[in-house]
Amino acid sequence: MGARPDPRALVTARVDRELLALLVHEVRSSVAALSAIAEAVSSGGIDDAALRRLVALSVSACRGIERVVEDTAPGSVRLEEVDVGRVALDAAAAASLGGARVRANVESELPLIRVDPVRLRQALDNLIANAVLHSSSRDEIVVAAHASGKELLLSVRDAGEGIPREQQARIFKPGIRLERDRPGSGLGLAVARAVAEAHGGRITVESTLGRGATFTIALPLPQS
Ligand SMILES: Nc1ncnc2c1ncn2[C@@H]1O[C@H](COP(=O)(O)OP(=O)(O)O)[C@@H](O)[C@H]1O
Ligand SMILES: [Mg+2]
Repeated sequence: MGARPDPRALVTARVDRELLALLVHEVRSSVAALSAIAEAVSSGGIDDAALRRLVALSVSACRGIERVVEDTAPGSVRLEEVDVGRVALDAAAAASLGGARVRANVESELPLIRVDPVRLRQALDNLIANAVLHSSSRDEIVVAAHASGKELLLSVRDAGEGIPREQQARIFKPGIRLERDRPGSGLGLAVARAVAEAHGGRITVESTLGRGATFTIALPLPQS
């Protein structure tokens, strides 16, 4: 008798295929930009200022490809003992350096837990980027980390436009974006969800339209 497939593994595989199709699309557009730049440069007759602009464009196309490569396997994790509060503080500090009004609210003496710090940071960065994009630059974004019962909760709260209740479940699917007039690939929340689930955790959203949104990643705490 053959082994029965694990139904959870099938779900993961399906989500990954959807993600992959989008990621391939993203890589294609960056590669197309790079080859157009290379053609422009090789045809000659470009002054220094134009050349500098093209170099800047190719750097950002390469960054785009790097990001996509990072996103291809959000469900694969390398676990180590991590101070998750430190990851939250670092993500908040990086966003502040980028010009956002971000405050960190991290409980002291959180237990160390086994997570992938790079993936977790990637998930938090995606949530913070969304909070910045969907709220006013005057409003504060709060990145919090605290323990609650059997879970360690990492959250990103904004006071922005919020998300209609009927859309709240769909936004975690790859490629779903509610407004077409904003930049984005619709992958940020799908990646954040894959990261949370790869750690045996989950991601949830609480939001009232017009009153902001709070995204929370709940990670299981080791039980003694
Ligand atoms: N903090 C937020 N406030 C309001 N809407 C949000 C927020 N975060 C995500 N969304 C909605 O969820 C959609 C999916 O988000 P995401 O997966 O990160 O894709 P992207 O940011 O590329 O559009 C966004 O297009 C937006 O409509
Ligand atoms: Mg996003």
